Amino acid sequence: MSLQEKITELRKVTLTKLSEIADEKTLNDFRVSVLGKKGELTDILKGMKDLANEERPKIGALANEFRDELSRLLEAKKEVIGQAVIAQKLANETLDVTLPGKKVAKGNRHILTQTTEEIEDIFLGMGYKIVDGYEVETDYYNFERMNLPKDHPARDMQDTFYITPEILLRTHTSPVQARTMDAHDFSKGPLKMISPGRVYRRDTDDATHSHQFHQIEGLVIDEGIAMSDLKGTLDTLVKKMFGAERKIRLRPSYFPFTEPSVEVDISCFKCGGAGCNVCKWTGWIEVLGAGMVHPNVLEMSGIDSSKYSGFAFGLGQERIAMLRYGINDIRGFYLGDARLSEQFIG
Ligand code: DAH
Repeated sequence: MSLQEKITELRKVTLTKLSEIADEKTLNDFRVSVLGKKGELTDILKGMKDLANEERPKIGALANEFRDELSRLLEAKKEVIGQAVIAQKLANETLDVTLPGKKVAKGNRHILTQTTEEIEDIFLGMGYKIVDGYEVETDYYNFERMNLPKDHPARDMQDTFYITPEILLRTHTSPVQARTMDAHDFSKGPLKMISPGRVYRRDTDDATHSHQFHQIEGLVIDEGIAMSDLKGTLDTLVKKMFGAERKIRLRPSYFPFTEPSVEVDISCFKCGGAGCNVCKWTGWIEVLGAGMVHPNVLEMSGIDSSKYSGFAFGLGQERIAMLRYGINDIRGFYLGDARLSEQFIG
């Protein structure tokens, strides 16, 4: 076979093979196998040295033509393969927007948080500020400043966790009263605050007791604050929380930091007062403690009790939520059981 025939034959075979290649690696190997240093064309051209002088340019031109043609075709093929790869990628990544999505589990505010925030909203609406207290308190603020001197018998009801003899986990949110009074500047106006938070007592846990629970303290101090202001405020709170038909009743009680002190009942929201299991057939439900701030408590904050007076109240969010939603075991609040939380979407 002459060189010319060999080149023509190589061209034919090459073009057929090229048409069958579909990936970049094979294409590259193929280019090397034909045009590379040890490729078939190079091999054929080694025969040039045996040609007559006038033959050589002809064969040379033919070889160059073939090399150019093949190079162009290889380039074009590479482009085609590249496009196909992109097309395949796009096809694989196609998003079917009609497929149903994965459900994202949605969290929910805890029922105690919801209750706290609802009460906060009611008081913010009446111009109160919200104050934070300390869960780790001093004996001084938790007891002494609340008119419970050392060895006062009423301390027994609130036995708690002591860190040192003078530092403890607060037993109620009432110490925030003293701290806020200390800091308040009465030349700037009356003091109106609520303070929600956790409190601790060395109680044995059962369906209605927990060693850790939540309270909201309320305090208003100004000139001329009377018991009627307390009653009106609590009446508003109760109507907003439990319904416009609810009535309140104040019963005399005792707290060392208020005088007079009252226990506040609401007319039963289930039976309306006729008597049922929720109100234990009395028609009334006890919801919070309150009273007029004791002059000693005012004086210990350096407030002139002949000029200023005020009221205070303390309520428990657990109790409010249990009554409202018929939850009969306080421990349910702290178990993190989604079956409880999911019933109170908010
Ligand atoms: N600190 C009381 C307790 O934990 C609740 C309380 C009663 C707070 C009467 C008050 C109040 O501010 O006036 O039992």
